[in-house]
Order: sequence, then structure tokens, then C-alpha cells
Amino acid sequence: MSKYVIVGGNKLQGKVSIGGAKNAALAIIPASILTDGVCTIKNIPNISDVSLIANILADMNVNVRMVNKNTLEINPKNIIRKTPSYDLVRRIRASYYLLGALLGRFCSASVYLPGGCNFGVRPIDQHLKGFARLGANYKIDGGIVNVEAKQLIGTTIYLDVVSVGATINIMLSAVKAEGLTVIENAAKEPHVVDLANFLNSMGADVRGTGTDVIKIHGVKFLKGTSYSIIPDQIEAGTYMAAAVATKGDIIIKNIIPKHLEAIKSKLEEIGAKIEELEESIRVTCNNELTRCNIKTMPHPGFPTDMQPQISVLLSLAKGTSIVNESVWDNRFRYVEELRRMGANISVDGKISVVEGVDRLTGTLVKATDLRAGAALIIAGLTSSGETIIENIDHIDRGYENICKKLKGVGANIKEVSEKYQPPLPKAL
Ligand code: EPZ
Repeated sequence: MSKYVIVGGNKLQGKVSIGGAKNAALAIIPASILTDGVCTIKNIPNISDVSLIANILADMNVNVRMVNKNTLEINPKNIIRKTPSYDLVRRIRASYYLLGALLGRFCSASVYLPGGCNFGVRPIDQHLKGFARLGANYKIDGGIVNVEAKQLIGTTIYLDVVSVGATINIMLSAVKAEGLTVIENAAKEPHVVDLANFLNSMGADVRGTGTDVIKIHGVKFLKGTSYSIIPDQIEAGTYMAAAVATKGDIIIKNIIPKHLEAIKSKLEEIGAKIEELEESIRVTCNNELTRCNIKTMPHPGFPTDMQPQISVLLSLAKGTSIVNESVWDNRFRYVEELRRMGANISVDGKISVVEGVDRLTGTLVKATDLRAGAALIIAGLTSSGETIIENIDHIDRGYENICKKLKGVGANIKEVSEKYQPPLPKAL
């Protein structure tokens, strides 16, 4: 497994173009099996999670054709109703969207429980509650979730917790249900809205996404469509944080400013200067970083998927910052790796206390999950010396060409084989 090697100290300068939103693509690709028609989906990020979800469809005899590296053509005409391969499903959390899509299309689904990033317990009780409310019966047997219904009947579903996955899965199963389905306490993330726009382009009737009440009038028939995915707010936020960490000056293109408001606000609090242009933003930082507190929240709050990245900036900000990870039980596994680089962070449950230090120093670290890996890259970019990051397959799950994009704005980063050994320290 290859590694990234970063020699820190360069200011990032220049332009970065943002790709399609991973978490929109991972919902929209499974949604395409709700029709017998052909769906052409553009602006798909070329990342391993997308390949995985596409392979899961192909495993069910769905014809998935790569028109180009960012466009898929999906033809589910000859789909086979089977349990998709465990070896594929266990590697990605979003595989559970097959439950909602298959239930929505066939009134039955049988999918292994999902895998994905390990942030502690990741239940699916709200998904199952939604399916049951629509009239389906479910049982989990041998690690497989079996769900089926004679007919899905629209109803009101109140989510006990704001859940992106459950909101999306209920939308997928309800679009062809009989009558009106109302999801209360729904997630409002941009990728939930993007899925609704995709479904409506197929002839669905989904209203209210982006608010906490989504109304879905079931329709009999959904047709193929052509659709382009929104830009990835977290990819954009990651490059914004990298610009701030290196005191650089970068223009980030292909973004939707509205999706970046919480990230922009926090980075400005830390000391960034952010200028909104037409479909891009310019991020600069010329002063000392300032401490601040972070509480991750469902959209439109500060996104949990930016928590590791922003914590690197807080590690370099004078003073004490408090990070409250209110969404996940254990999203601080990256802290151990940052400590190896000299960060002074203590963790107690869902809270971390970050004492700013003057600098981080490069060393050998490993990515424990996708956003943790992105945080280690940011830490390496700002560290003295060489940082070697192992397990970079985690990073490749969600960032298209991150090495090339960073090199394009002046970073000293390269991908090396797993045999790479750092040069021995000079004899004293
Ligand atoms: C999605 O995960 C994203 N993944 C995650 O991004 C993101 O961190 C998360 O939403 C929150 O924004 C994808 O979209 C593929 P949730 P999801 O259901 O849907 C609890 C990344 O880095 N919960 O919104 O799994 C759950 O335990 C990834 O791109 C229940 O209790 O998240 C958590 O505390 C990592 N019961 C909270 O809700 C349920 O049935 C939010 O989870 C479902 C969730």
C-alpha cells in the first residue's frame, strides 16, 4: 500500500478545482436503480468509494458504463434481485442505500449490514424505523438485513435523531410508495437536496429538502435522466483549511458559496480572509491563527466531516480551543497521530481540548479514516521536516487526485511505494 511523503513549509498558492460531492454521488448512484431507464450522471468524483458503489450495482447485473472519468451511464434494465456481494458491501457504509433503493423498486431488499469509517457505533435503527412505518417488515439474519412489504404506504415518519443516511434511505423507499410520506426532523445537508433534485428529474415528487420537513408524493413510474452532481463542500473545506494552515493564497473553483457558510465563518474566526467570487472563493491568511471553539452539528451547523481538518489549525493557534464532536461517538482517532507530530490535544469522550503549539514536526503517521487522513496531510504541509502518511487508501476514498491538486498549488508532496524508507538522520 503506497504512502504520501510531504515536506512541509511551502505556502499554497494558485487555483484548485473542486469535484463532485462524494456523499451526493453515493446516494444518487444507487437511486438510479429505481427506474428501468438509463441515467447519465455527470460531475461524479473519480474516487474509490464511487467505484465500490458502482461495482455493487454491477454485481446485481446493472450495466454501469464509465462515459469518462467523471460521468457514469447506468442501465438497470436487467437488474437481478440478489444480495449484493458481502466483500463489496462490507467496505462502504453507503451500501445501505441499496436497502432503500431495492425496497423502493421491488418492495423487497436483502443487503449485508454496511462497513465504512469506524467512529464508534453506527446504528441503522432510524432507517429500519422508516421502512417499518412505510409498511415493511424487516429482520437481521446472519448479518443480512432483509426488508419486504406487500405495498409501501406513505405515512409520517419522525426521526429520533437527525440522520443523513436515514433521511436518504426513506426518500429512496418512499418515492414510489402509495400516497404522501412526510419525514419530520429530516437532515438538511446539500447532498440530501441534490438527491431530491435527481429523483425529481426522474419524475418523482419530493418537496421541502433543505428543511427539516420533507414531503414525498409517491409516483407510479420513474424515468431515466441526465443529471450533474453538486460540488463537494467538504473537499472545498479541506483545501480552504490547507490554505490557512500554510498561510497561503488559493482560489478554490467550482463551489456553491451557500454550502460553505459554516466552514467560512469558522476559518475567518481563526484568522483567514475569505473573498467570495462568482463560483469560487479566495482564501488567504497572513496572521497568527486564533483559538476558537467548535461544535459539530447537522447542516447548516459546522460539519463533522471538517472536524479533524480544523483541529489541525487549532493545534497551531495560540491558546486553548475546545472541540465538541456532537455527531459521532469517537471521531478523535486522528489525535494520537497528531500528537506524534507534536500536537497538544487531550480527548475526553466527545470533547477534545487543544492547546496551541508553535509548530508541528514531520514524522511517520497513519490515516485512520478518510477525514483523519486529510487532516494529517494538512498537518504535514505545515510541519517542519518530512511527514510520511501510511494507509492512504482511506484518503483516496474521498479525494480525487489530492496529491496532484496539492502539487498544483505548490505543495511538496509525492506518492511513494510502501517500501519507501525515510532518509536516516545525519550522524551527530
Ligand atoms: C453521513 O453518514 C456521511 N456519509 C458521513 O460522512 C457524515 O459524517 C454523516 O452523514 C453526518 O453528516 C455518507 O454520506 C456516505 P448519520 P451517516 O446517519 O448517514 C446516528 C465522510 O467523511 N444515527 O447522519 O452514516 C449516528 O450514530 C462521512 O464523508 C442513529 O443513531 O450519518 C450519528 O451519531 C463520514 N441511528 C448520527 O445519527 C441511525 O439509524 C448522524 O449519523 C442513523 C444514524
